[in-house]
Formats: sequence, structure tokens, C-alpha cells
Amino acid sequence: MRKRKIIFDVDTGSDDALAIVSALLCPEAFEVLGICTVAGNRPLPNTTDNTLRVLELLGRGDVPVIMGAEKPLVAKNDFTRVIRQVLETKNEKGETIAYHAESLPIPPTTHTALENEHAATWLIKTLMAAEEKITLVLTGPLTNFALAYRIAPEILDHVEEIVIMAGGDNQTNSTGAAEFNVFFDPEAAWITFDAGLKVPLTMMTLDATHQAYLTPADADRLRKMNNPLGQFCYDEITERLKAYNYLQPLGTPDIAPIHDALCVMYLLDPTVITKKEFLHVDVVCGGIANGLTLVDTRIWTPDPKNVNVCFATDTAKFREMICSIFERSVH
Ligand code: RIB
Ligand code: CA
Repeated sequence: MRKRKIIFDVDTGSDDALAIVSALLCPEAFEVLGICTVAGNRPLPNTTDNTLRVLELLGRGDVPVIMGAEKPLVAKNDFTRVIRQVLETKNEKGETIAYHAESLPIPPTTHTALENEHAATWLIKTLMAAEEKITLVLTGPLTNFALAYRIAPEILDHVEEIVIMAGGDNQTNSTGAAEFNVFFDPEAAWITFDAGLKVPLTMMTLDATHQAYLTPADADRLRKMNNPLGQFCYDEITERLKAYNYLQPLGTPDIAPIHDALCVMYLLDPTVITKKEFLHVDVVCGGIANGLTLVDTRIWTPDPKNVNVCFATDTAKFREMICSIFERSVH
């Protein structure tokens, strides 16, 4: 397998965490040059601390973490841009139900993010200095990439592919129109789609990631690893199972989509995606449809195609791939 240099941009986040773990456990496929953090699932300090905790768990304090944007590009406080989806609640027993804990249930670390560096400028410096092209894996709001691209459009000359977890065709979550990463910063998503006119941009929509799920049996399988990583995977999958059953039932009970990890599985084996089309994609910024990703499937569309849109996943393949990768861990 060809080894890719990759840079993550994450809002860790339970599924971001599992995506990072899966990539770091595949050194034959990926050299992870750094992990940028952005506000999204949780505020920037939390997404950064959670990312550092994941690296500590894997003994990979060598991977640089670079803090980025703590707010979206346009943070207007109008109701159409305020998150209204319930992301955390308490059940009838008083237990907290949440997709993403404020702090992941793994030990904190003495490692810190790079001092006096912003993810946007670090991205520019790293990409411009790269001798071979780099793949960007963006699994949170796209603010950091958008800032970097606006400051230095020439970074695209050093980008092999951009893979994002974003948007939806028939599936949404934050509102009836939008997926969370796009809803949180729709202008950044627009800028990213614009970059898709110049470099390969592949979008894991909710349509695909809702089929990229793990089950209680998978959680039990991983706990049998009898090591901290196995326990962490069990804990995160179990929390996500509770959150989906309680807050966002998807029609099949006891499934936990691991949205962000699908970006990594796709890079490892593109056949995990069973439906993908190169189409024109745009996004609504503001208003009641804020964050809606408009996937233009018209054969005759006059609008330029800019995104490889992934619509469907081989669920069984995804489950076996990611569980087998986690089982490699000795941590
Ligand atoms: O809509 C799902 C996406 O939003 C995932 O990336 C999740 O981590 C959140 O960032
Ligand atoms: Ca995420």
C-alpha cells in the first residue's frame, strides 16, 4: 500500500477520536504530520485537550497538535445559526446522555498544543514546505482550512486530496436542513467546496456515515482486547449508542455511526463506499436552511462539478475494517 502523508483537522469528539486512533494504528498507510483542532462538538480548549488525551493513550505525544479557530467565520447570534439540536441531556435516571463528553474518559496529558501557533498558519507553512503532496482529513467545522485557503490559495498546489465529513443529501442532524459541521460554519464549507474546483475533494455525507456504524457486539468485541484502548473504544461506542437511541433514533435501534472514521476507512479502501458521484455541491449560508448542502444530481446541470459525494457505505466492511484495526493496538 502507498503511504500517504496526512493532516487531520478535528473537533474531538468521540468519533473524531476513533478516526485519529484508526489512522495512527495504520503506520503502513499513513504518516500523520499533525492534528489541528477547531471548536465544534465542544469549545476549542476541550477539543484540543481531548485530542491530546487520545495521543497520550496511544503513546504518540510526538504528533504535533495545533489549536485553530474558537469561533466560526460568521458567528452571528441569530436564531438560524444557533445550534438547536439537543447534544446533551439527562435520562429519567439522571444519567448524562451526550454524543461527545466535555472530556474524554481517558487520562489527561502533560503534552500541550504548539505554542504561539494557529492551525491556519501552521497549515500554510507545513503545506508550502511539503516535498510531496499531503492529504487533508477534515472532520469538524471547516474554519481552519477556510482561513488557510483564503490567506494562501497556493497551498492547494501541495494538497493531494481533501476528505471531509460534512453535509448530507437526504440525511441531516443539526436541523431539518443541515449536518453539524456545515451548520456550525457554512461559509467555511462554501470556501472548501470552492477549493474542490481545483483539487480532489471527497465528502462523506451523513447518507454514507449513517451506514458507517458500530454495534453493541462490536463494543463487546473491542472490550475483550483487555487493554486501555479496548476499554476506550467500548466506552465511546457505548456512549454513542445511548445518544443515538435516546436523541437521534435512525430507524435501526442500537447502532452508533462513527462518522469521522469513515474518512479514514475510505482512504484505506475506497470500496468501503458503495455509491460515489462527482457532482456540483453548494451550501446555504444563513436563513432557515442555514447549512443545507445542495447536492446537484441533475445530469444537465450547468454548474461546475466540485465534490466527490459519497452516498452509501458497505456497513459490514466498515465494521470489520475498523474493529480489526483497533485490535492491532497493544496500548
Ligand atoms: O455531523 C457529524 C459530525 O459533526 C461529526 O464530525 C461529529 O464529530 C461532529 O463534528
Ligand atoms: Ca467531528
